[in-house]
Amino acid sequence: MDNNPVIEMLGRPLRLAVIGGGPASFIGGVHRAAARLDGRYELVASATSSDPERSREAGAAFGLSPDRVYGDALALLDSEAARDDGAEVVAIMTPNDSHYPYAAGALDRGFDVICDKPITNTLDEALDLVARVHLSGLIFCLTHNYTGYPMVRQARAMVEDGQIGTIRLVQVEYVQGGKAREEDPDPARGLPWRYDPVRGGPSLVMGDIGTHAHNLGRFITGIEVSEVSAEVGAVVPGRLVHDYAAAMLRFDNGARGTFWVTQAAAGVENCLRIRVSGTRGSLEWNQELPTRLSFKPLSGPAEVRTPNGPGTLPLAARASRIVKGHPEGFLEAFANLYSDAAEAIAARRSGVEPNPMALHFPNALDGAMGLKFVEAAIASSAAGGAWTRAMLYYPVS
Ligand SMILES: NC(=O)c1ccc[n+]([C@@H]2O[C@H](COP(=O)([O-])OP(=O)(O)OC[C@H]3O[C@@H](n4cnc5c(N)ncnc54)[C@H](O)[C@@H]3O)[C@@H](O)[C@H]2O)c1
Repeated sequence: MDNNPVIEMLGRPLRLAVIGGGPASFIGGVHRAAARLDGRYELVASATSSDPERSREAGAAFGLSPDRVYGDALALLDSEAARDDGAEVVAIMTPNDSHYPYAAGALDRGFDVICDKPITNTLDEALDLVARVHLSGLIFCLTHNYTGYPMVRQARAMVEDGQIGTIRLVQVEYVQGGKAREEDPDPARGLPWRYDPVRGGPSLVMGDIGTHAHNLGRFITGIEVSEVSAEVGAVVPGRLVHDYAAAMLRFDNGARGTFWVTQAAAGVENCLRIRVSGTRGSLEWNQELPTRLSFKPLSGPAEVRTPNGPGTLPLAARASRIVKGHPEGFLEAFANLYSDAAEAIAARRSGVEPNPMALHFPNALDGAMGLKFVEAAIASSAAGGAWTRAMLYYPVS
């Protein structure tokens, strides 16, 4: 990432506006750090809260000019679209129910968009965004940030390279413990948006982490979940929202898999793990030890791949900023999505073909695939675990 293709193409960084992600949010600071890391964006405008005063305070703390700090997201979109020096890219990190109106509003005004997951709360809204992106030609980057880790990209590249053979089995789990305390199963009395299905979406656990797990499996393997048999519910007594989902998976190439996500596993921190087994060997990766990718060949001793270590493929090499043995992690992986999106946006704005290596960030169609899976898993669970179609057929031409 030493070179800066955005500066090469535009002569300056892209102008970025952020919606959501105020000082108290977990992910806002991550987005802003990710945007800064490779010098491809300049933050020029913000609307970080639904409360205008808090929004203004946060924008002042970012060092923004007062006339570029907005108390309302739609005012930001209107004003920035009207300025000659207005933002070119809008990043959205608000509660889930507002992703759709803000993303649609941004696309309609000609902004390229970076949006946090889940893309929307319904499949219909997600498909509407897919259509808007398709018709406008704008870039839409969905921050399924785990796809930015060098060793996740290495896994994808090894699958593409045929090193794993034909994929037969996929196991993915995303286990957290943040909702394991049983004395207050439903803090919706304080109305945090996640516990309100209108705002947080039809399934808390699937919106928070299930879409990440589903997307990671698709990203590494390149195959799609065609059918799902699921149970989605709550393990904490008295909880009104979903805190776990378990599913068997059938893939479109005939492979089989399992999917296990929960936020109620006491003491577990952020254990996103995947195992992919093909006819020639298996890959294993764990987000809490992200610089280690295990490769277990069918015949031969187990091996470990590391960022920029022996056997690094080009897709992984471009995702590392530092020589082997120097750990990179969550922030750098997040930044990889921002930086790849920046390269694609600058190419679009310069009228040149994008570097194909920059196009591995998840997009609106990936988001719609995730929503289709969420809706299928919930429907399957309601039908006692009946096998349910989970794959979206979308005309991409
Ligand atoms: N990619 C990831 O790993 C990851 C991790 C955490 C959260 N997220 C996603 O990020 C989004 C936000 O989650 P969070 O945990 O930061 O939530 P949060 O409640 O901690 O923060 C939400 C932020 O949005 C602001 N906001 C709310 N309504 C707004 C509006 N109308 N206009 C402008 N700003 C508004 C709030 O002031 C707050 O700063 C969610 O969609 C969530 O799924 C993604």
